[in-house]
Amino acid sequence: MASFIYNPKVYKNWFFSRIVCLSRWAVNFRDSFVDKRICGVSLNKYTESVRKGSTGSQSTPYIVLQEIFKDVKFQPSDSFIDVGCGRGRVLAYMVRKNFPGKISGIELNEEVACFARDWAKKYDNVNVISGDAFNLDYNSFSIIYMGRPFEPELFHRFIGHLETTLSHPVSLYYWVEQESGNYLDGRKGWKRLVRKRLFWRKGYFIANSPQRYSVWIFTP
Ligand SMILES: C[S@@+](CC[C@H](N)C(=O)[O-])C[C@H]1O[C@@H](n2cnc3c(N)ncnc32)[C@H](O)[C@@H]1O
Repeated sequence: MASFIYNPKVYKNWFFSRIVCLSRWAVNFRDSFVDKRICGVSLNKYTESVRKGSTGSQSTPYIVLQEIFKDVKFQPSDSFIDVGCGRGRVLAYMVRKNFPGKISGIELNEEVACFARDWAKKYDNVNVISGDAFNLDYNSFSIIYMGRPFEPELFHRFIGHLETTLSHPVSLYYWVEQESGNYLDGRKGWKRLVRKRLFWRKGYFIANSPQRYSVWIFTP
């Protein structure tokens, strides 16, 4: 099954792509339901990118987050940040998972950040910052999540920002990394713990084509 659906000739086939579309609709429907239970609103709406090199606001499906964080045991001393948090899907997932420490997100698009801040105000440990991820110091965080906020060139610059400013080790969870994640391979200070391709999970297709995620430890 796996090698069959990962074949571009198969998933780019018109009939097959209709099935994927339907499956994605079902994932969105289910996610919207979960969002409403945690946040009171759906976080599914897509908003266009506001800057060249940055991506638009698209929420990571919960089934992807379950896969990425399935073996992770968080500690009260952990502090989490989603770089480019969009409407806050990853923050909502962390709330649902009872993340024991501080949960933060930074978002460039003011309107989208306001949306996330609005639902998050009922949770004392969630903080949404409006602004540019390049202007933030990440030394107060131990776990960084990125759901492809940048295109490769900006991603490289962001890695430079982390490398020059961080003074303690951090974990990086990077979803949709197939275009730029290789940049970290063999790079000084970066150790890869996981790299996986995801397409089909728990009976659903999670995207129009296979996507990759990776998990890293950076030690300055
Ligand atoms: C693909 S969305 C991911 C949303 C969320 N992290 C998730 O996974 O559900 C990427 C988000 O990154 C934001 N972004 C892009 N460049 C940014 C920057 N320089 N600073 C802060 N946020 C940024 C975009 O506005 C967009 O909302």
